[in-house]
Amino acid sequence: MPGDGIGPEITEQAVRILEAVTEGTGLSLNFIPGLIGGAAYDAAGHPFPDATRDAALKADAVLLGAVGGPQYDNLDRPLRPERGLLGIRSAMGLFANLRPAILYPQLADSSSLKSEVVAGLDILIVRELTGGAYFGQPRGIRVVDGQREGFNTMHYNEMEIERIGRVAFEAAMQRGRKVCSVDKANVLETSELWREVMIRVSKDYPEVELSHMYVDNAAMQLVRWPKQFDVIVTENLFGDILSDQASMLTGSIGMLPSASLNDKGQGLYEPSHGSAPDIAGQGIANPLATILSAAMLLRYSFGRADLAQRIESAVNDVLEQGLRTRDICTKNDQEVSTQAMGDAMVAILRR
Ligand code: NAD
Ligand code: IPM
Ligand code: MN
Repeated sequence: MPGDGIGPEITEQAVRILEAVTEGTGLSLNFIPGLIGGAAYDAAGHPFPDATRDAALKADAVLLGAVGGPQYDNLDRPLRPERGLLGIRSAMGLFANLRPAILYPQLADSSSLKSEVVAGLDILIVRELTGGAYFGQPRGIRVVDGQREGFNTMHYNEMEIERIGRVAFEAAMQRGRKVCSVDKANVLETSELWREVMIRVSKDYPEVELSHMYVDNAAMQLVRWPKQFDVIVTENLFGDILSDQASMLTGSIGMLPSASLNDKGQGLYEPSHGSAPDIAGQGIANPLATILSAAMLLRYSFGRADLAQRIESAVNDVLEQGLRTRDICTKNDQEVSTQAMGDAMVAILRR
């Protein structure tokens, strides 16, 4: 599902990579195109058409570009592209959003932070994706005391907290065995319950060290000394904000992939960034976040960690060759287009 803005440009490259890496491996992927977001609204009058829903529910995995654009910002809220994205996340029950922030060593100078602060960075943000203020009812705009008032509701039940907690602890078992649960328990009741449930879940993972941090401090610590973190688990809105922030530690938001998983083994894979209307159609978008999301697709939906690693190591190789899209380009590098980055990746994978 290419979606809007740079979506078509970056998914085109990711599909080429998936084709190249699966060639001769016994895994043959059948790609079904789907409309989502503004593109779906333009073609079918709705950002998440029934045909897209049906195709998504039947698929093993969904690869998605991005949705949204200024031309859609004045539509009724239910018709906006972003609603399409929230719709597919909710329809597929994709409660667990994994956003790994990994610094490729060649990009240490592309980060806005000092290279010693980010060198060797490898953190995983586990963002709850189907709850919180994004989906809570009631919500709306109403008139109170003669003036309009916008309102949203944030709520989490124990089941929702427990299942995302388990995802974080399971992930931590496979890596640094540390989970930092980020909340606002000094102010919010949702966070009070969140913290209590995280502590309960942690009892099942005695080898994992659980810590808690308020979200405002976490935002500061992420830029002060990000390597203190291994796995961060947090609610939907906090995770949205902290993951964009963490992306800059890796050099660019164009480097941050994501996997959104449900409990039926299905997944949706998309870069963590948006449709970047400011650079759409110019052939300069960084396709690597989407390509790395395609690697996550092979790992989580098809059990092919071997092929995922081939993609990740090909990313290392293109960066080693000095190839950079504009967002990660520093003065000694060679700036290449979105397409040329894809070409170089395919050449490495076919070698
Ligand atoms: P954005 O992530 O689209 O862009 C923020 C900045 O990062 C822009 O300057 C953009 O050019 C740059 N950027 C993003 N991806 C890049 C890439 N791959 N290569 C190089 N530069 C890149 O965020 P925004 O501008 O706040 O939002 C634009 C639209 O995207 C809005 O309609 C928003 O709702 C939507 N959005 C969609 C998603 C999604 O589909 N998952 C995520 C975030 C925002
Ligand atoms: C993201 C995006 C979405 C979100 C928007 C476009 C609905 O920012 O995937 O991070 O807030 O989840
Ligand atoms: Mn976001």
